[in-house]
Amino acid sequence: MRDALESGWLTMGPRVEELERNYAEFLGCSHTLATSSCTASLHLSYLALGIGPGDEVIVPSMSFAATSNAVLYCGAVPVFADIVGLDDFGIDPADVEARISERTKAVCTMHYAGYPSAVDRLRELCDARGIALVEDAAHAPSAELEGRKLGTWGELGAFSFYSNKVLSVGEGGLVATDSAELATKVKSLRSHGMTSGTWDRHRGHVESYDIVDLGFNYRMDEMRAALLISRLRRVDSEIAKRRELVHGYRRRLEEVEGLTLPYRDSEVERSSCYVMPVVLDEGVERRAVRRELSEHGIQTSILYPAIHEFTEYRRRLPGVSLPRTEAASRRQLTLPLFPHMTGDQLEQVCAATAAALRSATRRGSTAT
Ligand SMILES: Cc1ncc(COP(=O)(O)O)c(C=O)c1O
Repeated sequence: MRDALESGWLTMGPRVEELERNYAEFLGCSHTLATSSCTASLHLSYLALGIGPGDEVIVPSMSFAATSNAVLYCGAVPVFADIVGLDDFGIDPADVEARISERTKAVCTMHYAGYPSAVDRLRELCDARGIALVEDAAHAPSAELEGRKLGTWGELGAFSFYSNKVLSVGEGGLVATDSAELATKVKSLRSHGMTSGTWDRHRGHVESYDIVDLGFNYRMDEMRAALLISRLRRVDSEIAKRRELVHGYRRRLEEVEGLTLPYRDSEVERSSCYVMPVVLDEGVERRAVRRELSEHGIQTSILYPAIHEFTEYRRRLPGVSLPRTEAASRRQLTLPLFPHMTGDQLEQVCAATAAALRSATRRGSTAT
């Protein structure tokens, strides 16, 4: 990072190239392109696939809005599919299949909390139907299915380095692909459709440039790349700590009344364990539980409010109904999880959660 600052070369240059080489090796894929965010990566991925007006992309609603916003940026229509259920927040391949139309150009799957969605089945489905597969792998660096890293199952995979992510540097993203053609397209659109970058011109490789496409400034800078090069070396050991903590949570919360745990113990080892999700029993007042936890200094969040229920989406795409996503979105709660969390902190969170659920349940039974 200091070297990057002292080098005097701050915009996309040798450190970004080094990060891209390292990340491609880390994922086991042919090409990666660093970007300014995962949102930009998703936008570039859809554009590289030629998605535009008149096309449809099937997406989860149980995700951050960037997954579907990027479809709208292309002038295409996001078609929301439901999740598997309250024990697996990944998009349901059967529901995806039912929503395929002659306008469907791609499916985007998101690996919730770093647990693999049914990307193997989606891969087969997309191959059989001649549709592209994109992975929103914002939660899932280093997670894998059948020994293959998430983000490399689709034609393109999009990663996030946003500040609350497993591999965080504030802002940043990356596109992974095995296709040289798609990589060239992403690279071009990332920097205004220019035929050469400033770094190439600086080194005297080319004198000038042409603009051959309508692109964007979705570049990453050298300081972020330098931080990521060093963070990438630690990410697997941090994920190992996250997994230990999740096992600890699962052991303790198993006995707690008023909640269930999505995913299975055996799935923890292949997840990057981005967050610790729980599902509150029907009728438990989530707001009261959150308030009580907050009074103990315990931060919780809701991942996610369903995208199709946001005002802007209701306006654009009225009448969408996804019962399993809606149930998950009303009952889900995310407990604190970070690699340097201590065993004592974990105990405190579990005890406070159990107590908050007891009071919420008592209140509920008094009210009836
Ligand atoms: C599932 C998912 N997709 C996309 C994004 C967007 O990432 P970024 O903030 O890097 O644009 C996020 C980040 O919050 C996310 O959680």
